[in-house]
Amino acid sequence: MTEGFVQGIVLLILSISLFMIIYTVYNDKSFPYFCDSYHLNYECHMLSSVRESPKIDPSPRCERNISVEQIQNFSSLPTNIKDLLYYRHCRHFPMLLDVPNKCGGANASSDVFLLLVIKSSAVNYDRREVLRKTWAKERLSNGVWIRRIFISGTMGTGYEKKRLNQLLKLEQSKYNDIIQWDFKDTFYNLTLKQMLFLEWMERNCPRAHFLFNGDDDVFANTDNMVMYLQNFERKGGRKHLFAGHLIYNVGPIRSPQSKYYVPEQLYESKLYPAYCGGGGFLLSGYTASVIYANSHSIPILPIDDVYMGMCLARAGFKPEHHLGVRTAGLHVPGKNVDELDPCFFKEMLLVHRMLSGEMYTLWHRIHDPDLRC
Ligand SMILES: *[C@@H]1O[C@H](CO)[C@@H](O)[C@H](O)[C@H]1NC(C)=O
Ligand SMILES: *[C@@H]1O[C@H](CO)[C@@H](O)[C@H](O)[C@H]1NC(C)=O
Ligand SMILES: *[C@@H]1O[C@H](CO)[C@@H](O)[C@H](O)[C@H]1NC(C)=O
Ligand SMILES: *[C@@H]1O[C@H](CO)[C@@H](O)[C@H](O)[C@H]1NC(C)=O
Repeated sequence: MTEGFVQGIVLLILSISLFMIIYTVYNDKSFPYFCDSYHLNYECHMLSSVRESPKIDPSPRCERNISVEQIQNFSSLPTNIKDLLYYRHCRHFPMLLDVPNKCGGANASSDVFLLLVIKSSAVNYDRREVLRKTWAKERLSNGVWIRRIFISGTMGTGYEKKRLNQLLKLEQSKYNDIIQWDFKDTFYNLTLKQMLFLEWMERNCPRAHFLFNGDDDVFANTDNMVMYLQNFERKGGRKHLFAGHLIYNVGPIRSPQSKYYVPEQLYESKLYPAYCGGGGFLLSGYTASVIYANSHSIPILPIDDVYMGMCLARAGFKPEHHLGVRTAGLHVPGKNVDELDPCFFKEMLLVHRMLSGEMYTLWHRIHDPDLRC
């Protein structure tokens, strides 16, 4: 009888311990999420280091907001807009790839003069390769440092998604220049990408002097940018800078067929604040942090460049026009003229858009010491 009693006690203790172990593992919600079989060890490691960072929401799984169904005429909105409203409040996504030391740590980041932040979807491998060899090369330019980061989300599903994630990972191991978050890299998610980057910058590169923020299909004369920005700094006095192709007196497109469709339920006013076209713009590190601080209280608008304008306006800052930024392309006079004549580009800051091969040739031509214009 005593023997049976002891056995009973031992069994009881064992089952309680087992229950507690299962309970603990099961309740650690991040456990299956961060380190499921899909994520490889490296990512798990990256993700757990992200989890420890105090600025990031520890529960990245974001529930949809059912209350948005009460918004007027919700049911008649297109599916992608409905989706956007459901998940509009979700601003934290786990990182898949990170470059926390890109600027040498937060304190040393003042050594970075110009940080190039280039939006690039995973499939655009050839564009990234050519940018690394041309205008986005990390280097000293006129005595100051240029650094480069590509920002990306995920694409596709199943095996395709896996392959594209692997591509970025391979590139990362070679170049160490990619930040990737675990969200779908879609047109409507560009604002999210932009804001996640600003959050990253706050943490890892708060003292960089300037940012160039742009697409991976533009030609940017980064040496000219450095000279323009050095001149801006030399003049002193002002910390705010946001310059590019200025767009003003335009409002949301209300036709549901448009790529840029923004219904009243997303943005009520008929007019957007002034903003700079998203192909590429320059801003000071100071202005970047002001934009980020203001973004917390402004609901996401899926048009990323307009959203930046909204954050600026909230801060009481104005974007400005720079003649050297041609996001609508460059008009070259005459018929029998080479439209990629390096002389047209030598004085520009940015021209949209160009094929990889053209970019490669042009970069070499504008640096030709024998070039006469
Ligand atoms: C959910 O949607 C409602 C209606 O648009 C909004 O008032 C509320 O703030 C939203 N909740 C969150 C968490 O964003
Ligand atoms: C809702 O739909 C009605 C009827 O189609 C229309 O008159 C009204 O302007 C719509 N309201 C909004 C906010 O879209
Ligand atoms: C960065 O600078 C701050 C204050 O200037 C200092 O407290 C902190 O220890 C520094 N961090 C590192 C990693 O050097
Ligand atoms: C943005 O990314 C999230 C997370 O991957 C996804 O659920 C959502 O559908 C995307 N939004 C749009 C509008 O594409």
